[in-house]
Amino acid sequence: MKKVKIGIIGCGYMAQMAHIPCLKANKNAEIVALCDFRENVTAELCQRWNIPDRTNSVDELLAMDIDAVYVLTPVQWHLSNITAALKAGKQVFTEKPAAMSGASVLELKKAADTAGIGVSVGYMKRHEANIVALKKIQAESDWGKMLFIRTHSFIGEHWNAAIEDLITPVASEESPVFDAAPLDPAPAWLKAERDETFYSFDNPYYALLDTGCHSVNLLRHLAASEPEVQSARNMSEVKLVDFNFSGTPGVMEFCLNFNMDRWDEVTELYFEKASVRILTPPPLDMQASAVVEIYSEDGTLHRNIQLEDNRQWAFRLQTDAFIEKVLTGNNSSDLEDAGKDIAIIEKIHKIEKGV
Ligand SMILES: NC(=O)c1ccc[n+]([C@@H]2O[C@H](COP(=O)([O-])OP(=O)(O)OC[C@H]3O[C@@H](n4cnc5c(N)ncnc54)[C@H](O)[C@@H]3O)[C@@H](O)[C@H]2O)c1
Repeated sequence: MKKVKIGIIGCGYMAQMAHIPCLKANKNAEIVALCDFRENVTAELCQRWNIPDRTNSVDELLAMDIDAVYVLTPVQWHLSNITAALKAGKQVFTEKPAAMSGASVLELKKAADTAGIGVSVGYMKRHEANIVALKKIQAESDWGKMLFIRTHSFIGEHWNAAIEDLITPVASEESPVFDAAPLDPAPAWLKAERDETFYSFDNPYYALLDTGCHSVNLLRHLAASEPEVQSARNMSEVKLVDFNFSGTPGVMEFCLNFNMDRWDEVTELYFEKASVRILTPPPLDMQASAVVEIYSEDGTLHRNIQLEDNRQWAFRLQTDAFIEKVLTGNNSSDLEDAGKDIAIIEKIHKIEKGV
């Protein structure tokens, strides 16, 4: 079978720890070239993974004989990288979040529609085997009305599950001079200078966008309905957000605390006749899958779907799904859906800051 030829833009942490290994594990994919500003990084990665070509120019990468592009740069680059890839007629996988604002995602959607290409966005939790199984069981069951949905996401330093013990990231002193011109300037309502701090976790909007988008995306996926943000507050760095999912209350408890060496993410759904608890693992824990417990009407645990097979790592399943999508000519797009997460993040930040 013909292999999907891949070019990667942005060869930092996620490329090195998740996407390159997963693409290498897929027998229908072939990484043809790497692109990064940091030339010592691409040089070492090409050697480590036996990848034939590399460049520091996005245009050069896009001129190569590749079918699809992985956009693994920080979110402020996604608008320009994805637009360029679409103009070059390449299939696109991008890490989340799709862009800096809902308005930028709309621009991407226009570019994708013009190119006739469906962009995939990297919400790997949707590929968790047990979450896929849960959605199927839910569709086949009569659990009655959903009464409440909650996510508790206290994100700590253990997000990478000590993966550096297995894969050493390539060290680099190279760093390009900051230039805001090519970066996504949005959202327009956020009145701040577009300097290096703006595009960092020191900007609370950026931090919430970059990390909280996973929680919002998973909540929407599980609730299968669109929430209104009713209230949002931030006290001692803990965010408490109230949602209204078409008459069903929802809550997001969210905290970024990299002093805590732990990953603590629980999502719960309560129905009239059942309840569900989902424990999602640290994202880079390649040995773990989400644990899903389904409790029946009388409160007894009647399903505990657990997998212990590291080939079920959500990132691997996500890679396999993207390669399959390209091979089968499936043109579905995640952009519209991904734009909804960002619109919600914008709303939470606006309410919190009284904008
Ligand atoms: N799915 C997840 O759980 C998860 C976890 C962490 C990060 N992410 C996402 O992954 C993406 C990348 O994050 P990361 O932590 O790997 O970032 P990183 O900073 O480690 O790596 C980014 C790389 O891109 C390069 N780069 C930036 N702009 C470039 C350009 N225009 N051309 C060429 N190279 C360029 C940088 O030199 C760097 O090597 C972000 O969107 C982030 O939100 C996802």
